[in-house]
Amino acid sequence: MNDIQNQSDLYLLVDEFYKKLLSDSSISYIFTDVVKIKIEEHLPILVTFWSQVILGTGGYTNNLTQIHLDINAKEYLSPELFKIWLHHFNTAVDEYFRGEKAEQIKTQALNIATIMQIKIAQNKV
Ligand code: HEM
Repeated sequence: MNDIQNQSDLYLLVDEFYKKLLSDSSISYIFTDVVKIKIEEHLPILVTFWSQVILGTGGYTNNLTQIHLDINAKEYLSPELFKIWLHHFNTAVDEYFRGEKAEQIKTQALNIATIMQIKIAQNKV
């Protein structure tokens, strides 16, 4: 099994990850009802984001935490939802990739998810 090496690897990863999210009814409603994502527009943004984080390419300029605070304002993003999100993310990584970048991307996802949850908790008070 190879490590994550380029943007087409990241595309494969986010595509498989979103297949998992969207087929799990305990979280899919956020992507289909709360925010109606257009998957063909959404996936390239995710690739740019992860490419910046993992491959150091740059190019992602949105405020990721604010985007999730806005979603949270419509529908509470509970710790349980973050657990489900991380589970599908880690599973998708482990199904396709092994190596340093594969470990890095899972650690970064956990770190970012932790920061988001702190911001969400702060936002409530
Ligand atoms: C409960 C957990 C999460 C849920 C339900 C969730 C849901 C969503 C939704 C609905 C969008 C689309 C927003 C829009 O287009 O207006 C989105 C965007 C995004 N999410 Fe999440 N998210 C979660 C956690 C995370 C985490 C932990 C990360 C990163 C580690 C992440 C990375 C992204 C990225 C990169 C985008 C694209 C933002 C952009 O358009 O610039 N998400 N998320």
